[in-house]
Amino acid sequence: MLRKSIAAFVSAALAASSQAASPKATRSETGQTSIGRPDIEAYPFNAGRALPESPVRTKNCTVAASGGDDAAAILQALHDCNNGGTVILDAEYTIGTVLDLTFLNSVDIALTGKITFTDDIEYWVNNEFHYDFQNSTSFFKLGGTDVNIYGGGVGVIDGAGQKWWEEFAVNATLLRPILFVTDGLHGGSITGINMINSPNWFNLIANSSDVLISDITINVHSTGKVTAKNTDGWDTYRSDGIIIQNSVINNGDDCVSFKPNSTNIVVQGLQCNGSHGISVGSLGQYVDQYDIVENIYVYNNSMSNASDGARIKVWPGINSYQAPTLSGGGGAGYVKNITYEKYYNHNNDWAIEVNQCYGQSNKTLCQLFPSNMTISDIYFLDFWGTTSKKYDPKVGTLVCSSPQQCQNINARNISIKGPSGASPKWVCSGFDTSGLEGFDCVSS
Ligand SMILES: *[C@@H]1O[C@H](CO)[C@@H](O)[C@H](O)[C@H]1NC(C)=O
Ligand SMILES: *[C@@H]1O[C@H](CO)[C@@H](O)[C@H](O)[C@H]1NC(C)=O
Ligand SMILES: *[C@@H]1O[C@H](CO)[C@@H](O)[C@H](O)[C@H]1NC(C)=O
Ligand SMILES: *[C@@H]1O[C@H](CO)[C@@H](O)[C@H](O)[C@H]1NC(C)=O
Ligand SMILES: *[C@@H]1O[C@H](CO)[C@@H](O)[C@H](O)[C@H]1NC(C)=O
Ligand SMILES: *[C@@H]1O[C@H](CO)[C@@H](O)[C@H](O)[C@H]1NC(C)=O
Ligand SMILES: *[C@@H]1O[C@H](CO)[C@@H](O)[C@H](O)[C@H]1NC(C)=O
Ligand SMILES: *[C@@H]1O[C@H](CO)[C@@H](O)[C@H](O)[C@H]1NC(C)=O
Ligand SMILES: *[C@@H]1O[C@H](CO)[C@@H](O)[C@H](O)[C@H]1NC(C)=O
Ligand SMILES: *[C@@H]1O[C@H](CO)[C@@H](O)[C@H](O)[C@H]1NC(C)=O
Ligand SMILES: *[C@@H]1O[C@H](CO)[C@@H](O)[C@H](O)[C@H]1NC(C)=O
Ligand SMILES: *[C@@H]1O[C@H](CO)[C@@H](O)[C@H](O)[C@H]1NC(C)=O
Repeated sequence: MLRKSIAAFVSAALAASSQAASPKATRSETGQTSIGRPDIEAYPFNAGRALPESPVRTKNCTVAASGGDDAAAILQALHDCNNGGTVILDAEYTIGTVLDLTFLNSVDIALTGKITFTDDIEYWVNNEFHYDFQNSTSFFKLGGTDVNIYGGGVGVIDGAGQKWWEEFAVNATLLRPILFVTDGLHGGSITGINMINSPNWFNLIANSSDVLISDITINVHSTGKVTAKNTDGWDTYRSDGIIIQNSVINNGDDCVSFKPNSTNIVVQGLQCNGSHGISVGSLGQYVDQYDIVENIYVYNNSMSNASDGARIKVWPGINSYQAPTLSGGGGAGYVKNITYEKYYNHNNDWAIEVNQCYGQSNKTLCQLFPSNMTISDIYFLDFWGTTSKKYDPKVGTLVCSSPQQCQNINARNISIKGPSGASPKWVCSGFDTSGLEGFDCVSS
């Protein structure tokens, strides 16, 4: 009965749209690869509303590769083809200068070539864009209205992260750029692109709305001894109506993370490997801020070799310092109406983790100072697979700081075991666990 009502609630609320068509790049007689805008739609779910119409473009601006820094030529082409054209990037480009691309309006970017950012750390740390949020920085920022960026499965954006990861290993305050930042993008799509070796997070979707992201591959590979740190797939921030779908991610931090003020977001058809899961948060890090994550639907994804499958992490109600990148707590706000449905888990340490004590090792402090973030109306539905042996036979952990701060947490049809095959146990405490169907809860 309850299960049925949840399913009805989810499917009634999300309008299904038509099936995606896969674009194919073709090589012309001149040897150049050219493609038109692909017909990819949000599928099977959209974010509760249709994406805005995007008129056909009527002009092309092709950028020749110079052999040196191509930033100025790309910027010029975007000005020339703005308001109704397509910038064609079909060669191998280098970008060694910051680019503010927040002026875009009704323009497409057809990237069938490759863009590589220089690894001139000294230049970038002195010139990269800075954002207050988590001290993040970027090579470029892209925003405006009605912008489609497509790569037909062949376009590449290369962050040349190796030197950055090596430098970060000896300088923890190094501000490494995020590979792709949308800052104020309203209406548009990013599809068919292969993103490799970001110095930091791969994508930050900020201050944006009505954006479809589809058919992306993300790969990170260190050729040295250092590991690539903080290579999140997508982080959403101050954004509404975003769909991230049908992509393959091999990375080392969150596959997708919903940061403060992420609302009406759908994540579907992802195959994530080696990450920290599809995560809400962390939230409540900054004392003076109010964080909202609401109406999130995570459907039909697979997660392998990760620390977590589904994860919700918020800071406790006390501020503390543990490391330059791990300090905070005491921020208020709420996490509400989050559904994870149809989730294949393989070799993840926890299939589900809910944590209201993030960033604080002293658990007593979390009980004394319950999180100022509430978590409510959470649904984990139809999970299957196996965890790693790390906590076997424990397969998940849901620990809240007080029942007032965690309400209406539900799990149904969860078929997860450890590799031993022993009867699975769940660590569940600090809230009313009656919504966790079939869970054998233990206290630690
Ligand atoms: C722009 O280039 C694409 C790909 O080569 C081509 O299909 C399209 O017809 C061109 N559009 C215009 C307006 O020239
Ligand atoms: C988003 O908008 C806020 C408020 O205008 C601004 O401070 C911030 O720099 C913008 N971009 C990012 C990535 O946060
Ligand atoms: C940004 O970095 C500086 C210097 O490391 C640090 O003092 C500050 O707390 C950081 N801010 C945030 C929001 O993380
Ligand atoms: C670490 O990197 C920052 C730039 O992000 C720089 O200002 C600082 O001088 C570097 N520290 C060392 C010890 O190199
Ligand atoms: C689930 O996602 C996969 C891609 O990972 C896709 O092939 C499949 O059609 C999707 N299934 C449903 C029911 O949406
Ligand atoms: C998947 O992640 C594991 C563990 O991080 C890694 O060893 C493996 O190479 C990854 N697979 C692919 C296809 O990248
Ligand atoms: C998030 O939204 C709330 C409510 O509108 C607002 O108070 C808060 O400042 C926003 N946070 C950010 C980071 O924009
Ligand atoms: C809950 O979130 C879903 C998306 O997951 C949305 O369709 C639905 O309208 C939301 N429910 C409420 C009561 O806002
Ligand atoms: C998980 O990791 C194992 C061992 O590294 C690897 O063989 C497997 O392909 C990975 N799974 C995925 C989906 O990449
Ligand atoms: C944890 O915090 C409590 C309350 O402040 C304190 O009494 C205790 O000593 C702390 N434990 C550790 C290991 O620091
Ligand atoms: C935040 O938590 C602290 C400690 O529990 C409490 O004293 C304070 O009133 C809370 N503030 C808000 C805004 O909820
Ligand atoms: C339970 O989840 C599995 C895996 O998604 C699905 O095949 C099955 O139909 C679900 N069972 C019920 C009763 O919903």
